[in-house]
Amino acid sequence: MPLEPIGQATIKIDEHELACPIFRGSEGERAIDISKLRKETGTITYDPGFMNTGSCSSAITFIDGEKGILRYRGYDVADLAENCEFIEVAYLLTRGSLPTAEQKSRYSGLLNQHSMIHEDMREFFSHYPEHSHPMAILSAMVVSLSSFYPELGQNRHEDLDMTVTRLISKLRTIAAFSYKKSIGEPAVYPRHDFKYCENFLNMMFSSPVRKEPFTPVMVEATNKLLILHADHEQNCSASVVRAVGSSGANLYASISAGICALWGPLHGGANEHVIRMLVDIHARGTKVKEVIARAKDPRHPFRLMGFGHRVYKSYDPRARIAKELCQKVIAANNTHDPLLDIAQELEAEALADPYFQDRNLYPNVDFYTGLTYREMGIPTNMFTVMFAIGRLPGWIAQWLELKNDTETRIARPRQVYTGPNVRTVDPIENRED
Ligand code: CMC
Repeated sequence: MPLEPIGQATIKIDEHELACPIFRGSEGERAIDISKLRKETGTITYDPGFMNTGSCSSAITFIDGEKGILRYRGYDVADLAENCEFIEVAYLLTRGSLPTAEQKSRYSGLLNQHSMIHEDMREFFSHYPEHSHPMAILSAMVVSLSSFYPELGQNRHEDLDMTVTRLISKLRTIAAFSYKKSIGEPAVYPRHDFKYCENFLNMMFSSPVRKEPFTPVMVEATNKLLILHADHEQNCSASVVRAVGSSGANLYASISAGICALWGPLHGGANEHVIRMLVDIHARGTKVKEVIARAKDPRHPFRLMGFGHRVYKSYDPRARIAKELCQKVIAANNTHDPLLDIAQELEAEALADPYFQDRNLYPNVDFYTGLTYREMGIPTNMFTVMFAIGRLPGWIAQWLELKNDTETRIARPRQVYTGPNVRTVDPIENRED
């Protein structure tokens, strides 16, 4: 959206002087518009990892990383997690406002109506090798939807609306089917008498010999966890979705790319790696102090998984909610998970350590979500898939906003070239190794 300038900064490079407008967002964050910098001065900005670069304006999600605030369209994430179901938040993100009771019921019906996948697509699952990672399957299946539902190409409003609903509905079906494939059980079809999260849990856990194997606490936890994941402004995967969308690629292709970006261990894949780290500590009986020492050692590549964040320089508000939820699910199951004890010890030790204090490293969303999924019986390699199901409405909202933004241009950063200067090709017999 075009922004109104509130002031001006001057950039001086050699003999060039450039007046750059300064903008302010609705929560007070300031940005300097350098869009004419190269044209006017012949110089570009250098900002690896885009740590200081605003790539767009957005009205979807607000984060204050210093204060630990996260809001979707103005609502605090804790408020939404406490008072809404996931589909209400999906509606909020993709359509702009929370649904009324009637809108929610109609939306729920639509999600049910679109929950099956084409039978030919179901065949795909059987051709993946055993132990395929479900994130690989998920990404491939999502981009395949564009072949099965080509209405998308017509780009009419109602088609887009249908595509969005279809995608939100089908992603959990694809996710559950990929899990069933990985354990060699028959796929369980979605049911119209279940709501979104119940349906997912049913497709995951019921079988020809086991019916409705989920509890109200599991349904509540699924709703809350998906809400915690629902959006996080211009993170790695959302930026990927926007970058792919900016080339004109369709929604399915853009989301499929986002799923791949999320998979990485520094992003959504961290939830899986947190559990692998905790399992390893438990199995080896490693002392928590040793783990912390390893994480602090600059010569060692190990990092404390589930700790640190590009934006949060205080406690991640999602981690706080996830921790309480994890304790609640464990209490409801009347079980004890030694990995939770280790996680809490690690947290206490890290938060008291000057290395973590000086760098503002706190638990992030992934530190406790994996433990909760584990307690619910969701296998470790499905954790990032859960994250993807939750993040989908956020990705879609970012993509739709991009499409409606008159300032959108194809994403195409510059670089500072450091390779060889011009040279000519030697005949092959003269080249040296
Ligand atoms: N353990 C040990 N040291 C760390 C950690 C950690 N988890 N995270 C950051 N640091 C150190 C880092 O070594 C650096 O130290 P120094 O200044 O001495 O070089 C300093 O803290 C700043 O770290 P950075 O890597 O420059 O920060 P970043 O903003 O580029 O990276 C991060 C953010 C999330 C990738 C990083 O904190 C990390 O690798 N964390 C572990 C992986 C993880 O939990 N990822 C999930 C992120 S939240 C969910 C999501 O994004 O989807």
